[in-house]
Amino acid sequence: MKTVLITGCSSGFGLEIARYFLARDWQVVATMRTPQADVLPPSSRLRVLALDVTNPESIRQAVEAAAPIDVLVNNAGFGAASPVEFVPISTVRGLFETNTIGTIAMTQAVLPQFRQRRAGVIVNVTSSLTLKPMPLNAAYRASKAAVHAFTESLALELEPFRVRVRLVLPGSSPETRFRESARMDGLDHEAYADLVKKTFAPLRAASAAITHLQDVAEAVWRAATDPSSPMCIPAGADAEAWAAEAA
Ligand SMILES: NC(=O)c1ccc[n+]([C@@H]2O[C@H](COP(=O)([O-])OP(=O)(O)OC[C@H]3O[C@@H](n4cnc5c(N)ncnc54)[C@H](OP(=O)(O)O)[C@@H]3O)[C@@H](O)[C@H]2O)c1
Repeated sequence: MKTVLITGCSSGFGLEIARYFLARDWQVVATMRTPQADVLPPSSRLRVLALDVTNPESIRQAVEAAAPIDVLVNNAGFGAASPVEFVPISTVRGLFETNTIGTIAMTQAVLPQFRQRRAGVIVNVTSSLTLKPMPLNAAYRASKAAVHAFTESLALELEPFRVRVRLVLPGSSPETRFRESARMDGLDHEAYADLVKKTFAPLRAASAAITHLQDVAEAVWRAATDPSSPMCIPAGADAEAWAAEAA
């Protein structure tokens, strides 16, 4: 039976990915900053472990307790919406600490076991925003684009060890806590009022294509289980449309 370790399972995509793999008979290590077992269905194949991807000791303990694992899903992350001139540098650092360095640190932590076993898959959840530039999220987009560059080089480096690496790119989803936990600064400044309206109104429109939880779980499943899957897998109708535009 295969084992997947997923980061950021307290809500949203991470929680749904954990449910999806549990329903398909995998052993699931669902990690959360504050562990809550009751958000997932009880199962002898489920372990809930504490993990903060910005804390090296927390990473070491979780990966040691979970080993051996077959698949790592780097899903934990948060967003920020701001004009660049108003985004606090502490927020920029936080975005890179969690979204980028957290992904790199988790990857480093599992690589010794993957390399020795000459097997393993790493799935990095980024964003369809990396496919085309949009204003008012430059720092968030940069933190995810860095994961793309990292992942593409990593894939080449790990080929000799038969370790696969994939990117899953969700579109915009109102079904997670992403919007409520996003840090926002300066969006009410009058100089940016028109741009804020123009940028966010189409995303919030009732007719807008969105990404559902299931879209992301399916894309991660495909990345984890199908060796012929592409390196970049858009997840959600909006992400697929953006990917087609960018191609
Ligand atoms: N929803 C969207 O529109 C969207 C679109 C594209 C990409 N994404 C990406 O999808 C991923 C999941 O986001 P989501 O939409 O499911 O939002 P969410 O519901 O807010 O889930 C984010 C998860 O990440 C966890 N997390 C945050 N910082 C962490 C840290 N330092 N260590 C460990 N876990 C941490 C959160 O845990 P806590 O409960 O402890 O805060 C939460 O479990 C993120 O990487 C996000 O950038 C989201």
